[in-house]
Amino acid sequence: MLTYGRLLVKDMTDCQGVAEGASTPMELYERLSAQGGKVRSLKSAKAEKAEVDAAVQLLLMLKMDYKQMTGQDYKAGCPPSDNVGAPNNGPAADGAGEEDTVDPWNVSTTNANGVDYDKLIVRFGSSKIDKELVDRIERVCGQKPHRFLRRGVFFSHRDMHQVLDAYEKHKSFYLYTGRGPSSEAMHVGHLIPFIFTKWLQDMFDIPLVIQLTDDEKYLWKDLTVEECHRFAIENTKDIIACGFDLNKTFIFSDLDYMGASPEFYRNVVKIQKHVTFNQVKGIFGFTDSDCIGKISFPAIQAAPSFSNSFPHIFGSRKDIQCLIPCAIDQDPYFRMTRDVAPRIGYPKPALLHSTFFPALQGAQTKMSASDANSSIFLTDTPKQIKNKINKHAFSGGKDTVEEHRKYGGNADVDVSFMYLTFFLEDDEQLEKIRQDYTSGALLTGELKKILIETLQPMIAQHQERRKQVTDEIVKQFMTPRPLNFKL
Ligand code: TYM
Repeated sequence: MLTYGRLLVKDMTDCQGVAEGASTPMELYERLSAQGGKVRSLKSAKAEKAEVDAAVQLLLMLKMDYKQMTGQDYKAGCPPSDNVGAPNNGPAADGAGEEDTVDPWNVSTTNANGVDYDKLIVRFGSSKIDKELVDRIERVCGQKPHRFLRRGVFFSHRDMHQVLDAYEKHKSFYLYTGRGPSSEAMHVGHLIPFIFTKWLQDMFDIPLVIQLTDDEKYLWKDLTVEECHRFAIENTKDIIACGFDLNKTFIFSDLDYMGASPEFYRNVVKIQKHVTFNQVKGIFGFTDSDCIGKISFPAIQAAPSFSNSFPHIFGSRKDIQCLIPCAIDQDPYFRMTRDVAPRIGYPKPALLHSTFFPALQGAQTKMSASDANSSIFLTDTPKQIKNKINKHAFSGGKDTVEEHRKYGGNADVDVSFMYLTFFLEDDEQLEKIRQDYTSGALLTGELKKILIETLQPMIAQHQERRKQVTDEIVKQFMTPRPLNFKL
């Protein structure tokens, strides 16, 4: 067992004291991030070679100390996980998933099968949603687990067992999820966390808060404040169309709620006080030329994880556990939140992470709203859906019908098959499609037809429900008010 406080940078008199006293992996990580920044700025300022060499050498020493302390290689942008050194943390993350980029702004891999999610679990220090957890959720809520759980779409978690332990002792929790309204139309991938959140709300009968980060999109995109706010309202209609219960759901735009709720803002500043610039640089890759709005934004996405940010729902209670369903790209925000929470006297939020709904072109990247041909939008017509799938959906089939019949297709890289795993409810039908495609009995065109016939009615029904969402209904969901639940 390492005693963190004793770690020193050795044999470098002029550097001594830099790692000295680093009492936690996070502190050492911050020093490493700062030293990395120092090396970069010395290099870009074309400093004396000796000065650059000394800074680089110190960086290497700190990396060695970090490896010794955490058992993991230092990786910029990946702070040490909560359970570094814990017995169930899996093997050291040497080089794990290094080819995959996963953060709130980029998801990409060179692997045709998509991101290596098992490696990501090790790298991010989360836990796998294994069969035992799925069975436990089934026992606790007394219903067949959602297909996203049965099929590993939600694959990773933080502290879900703790949430269930408390729930079994009649200590309930609330749900928190969100959307960054960067455009009027959401794509099918954005539905994944909302569909699952709705299922969780129904299963556990609990309150839900949904954050629309219109401020985030203003800070990151070339959009006006008014446009971002308008997109927030438009996206809210799509979110409501997922079927959330008005009595148990509060949806808010940051641009509106920050000014309306002193309690929310108090939590934002508490978080801001406890996270350093170095930390957010390390976690989010901010640089010196990023505007200060971006640098302080993570505190605003963190604040809804604490129940007293919503006094109209939870009164002054600050002890109600929060559970956040999202795709794993949002995890950096919540790693930061979990690090801060105990230091400001709040419980750490628990998380359920999903995989990414892939782009039409293949699983190397996620579906993205900024590339119209990569995505199926919730506003697409049946004809557009058909054309996009036929034209762009990456196929795991063979080049000719003869070859396909002889050798079969590869369902693991086939986008149409992947989409069906998200949306086709019947497990047996899905398995039969997989077998027939793999054996060559089912051709690519036939597989695409099944997908088209699955998505067209699903999206048409969504559009129908959205039409029913009036401005008055939006206003009701977005008004701070008590919700109806028992904790
Ligand atoms: P945003 O708008 O990028 O995404 C909204 C939600 O959709 C998930 N997501 C996806 N899930 C599966 N496949 C995809 N291809 C895909 N693309 C996006 C995201 O993980 C997210 O859950 N900053 C956030 C908004 C936010 C938030 C939150 C999200 C604020 N608070 C709490 C989750 C939880 C954002 O811009 O999300």
